[in-house]
Amino acid sequence: MSVNQVPFITLNRFEKGFRENFLGGVATLFEKTQFVGGPVIGELEAELSHFVKSKYAIGCANGTDAIQIALRAVGVEKNDKVLIPDMTFWATFEAVVNVGANPITVDVNRESCHWDLETFKKAVIDFKPKAAVMVHLYGWASPDTLEIRKFAKDSGVLLIEDGAQCFATEINGESILGTALIATTSFYPAKVLGASGDAGAVFTNDEKLNQTCRILINHGRTDHYSHGMIGWNSRIGAYEALFLKLSLEHINARIESRRSAVKYYAEALQGLPFKPVNAKSSVKENGYCAVGMVDPDLRASLIESLKKANIGYGTIYPGAMSLQAGAKGHMLGSIDYGNAHYISQAVLNLPCFAYITNEELEYVCQTVRNHFKK
Ligand SMILES: Cc1ncc(COP(=O)(O)O)c(C=O)c1O
Repeated sequence: MSVNQVPFITLNRFEKGFRENFLGGVATLFEKTQFVGGPVIGELEAELSHFVKSKYAIGCANGTDAIQIALRAVGVEKNDKVLIPDMTFWATFEAVVNVGANPITVDVNRESCHWDLETFKKAVIDFKPKAAVMVHLYGWASPDTLEIRKFAKDSGVLLIEDGAQCFATEINGESILGTALIATTSFYPAKVLGASGDAGAVFTNDEKLNQTCRILINHGRTDHYSHGMIGWNSRIGAYEALFLKLSLEHINARIESRRSAVKYYAEALQGLPFKPVNAKSSVKENGYCAVGMVDPDLRASLIESLKKANIGYGTIYPGAMSLQAGAKGHMLGSIDYGNAHYISQAVLNLPCFAYITNEELEYVCQTVRNHFKK
């Protein structure tokens, strides 16, 4: 069958039997009226921590809550200064503000699109923050991740890692989420491990942080009617936990197909003004998204060609955090070299999702190549 359209993302390529297994499991939970809590939550958390290689995994309501829980768990409070990258999803900024702290945006490296050690060091020295949220975007991570972790530790800066996009990403052969002081992820349906609604998780190897996170997500409960802290309700629902547990059975195949897709683009789109960009070699990306850069003056016309060919695309993300209208009045400072802004104007994401076919990938590549032949 010849391909004449490719969505940016589609969520409907489930494995044979997945739907039936999920609906069967939902029927069982329904019959037992196990809607919140119950064994499925613990089972999911055990499987998550096994997969991610962290001692603890704490399921929660979504990836934004997960960052807020992690910030609160490490002790970030009202008016504390927290570094965040200028290139991330807005949730990172919001989470800092929602716990009462003040974000300081720190520019990313134009090549790696992530923080580099030098700029991170400068930000720590200039602003003396209490904490920092390092974000692993695009399913990659900064090639300086380990050095940034060490510098943060040596400087007494509490480092939270927003891994909403980096489930299963590795650095030097090790799980990013499993080796952080405290890391978070999102199970928004379009993520590498997606739920059928909103969900998220926090990962840590620290027993005390694990305990605090569990208390925070459940109304500060120390037992059913004793409340040791101000928390909130960020529990994960049983149906979501079931969906995620069943999805984990297929996660390796899903990730392999995503990784093959980004590799396909990297090989098939060489020598063009649109340049596929991949994670640096110490980082094993998870194929969350296919990233390319094009001269900002050429982006709109390339997008037009994709649209004409019925190909979906993304611009993740089209604006730096410090330039968002909502940032006004909340930022305590910034380091701005113009890199996040440049990336926001140059980035273009091609279709990438689990089980995208080679025919679909080739159709996209042909469209991009033809565009530049004109
Ligand atoms: C980098 C980043 N951080 C945080 C989030 C927030 O996750 P959620 O939508 O589950 O709240 C996302 C989700 O898109 C994200 O990409």
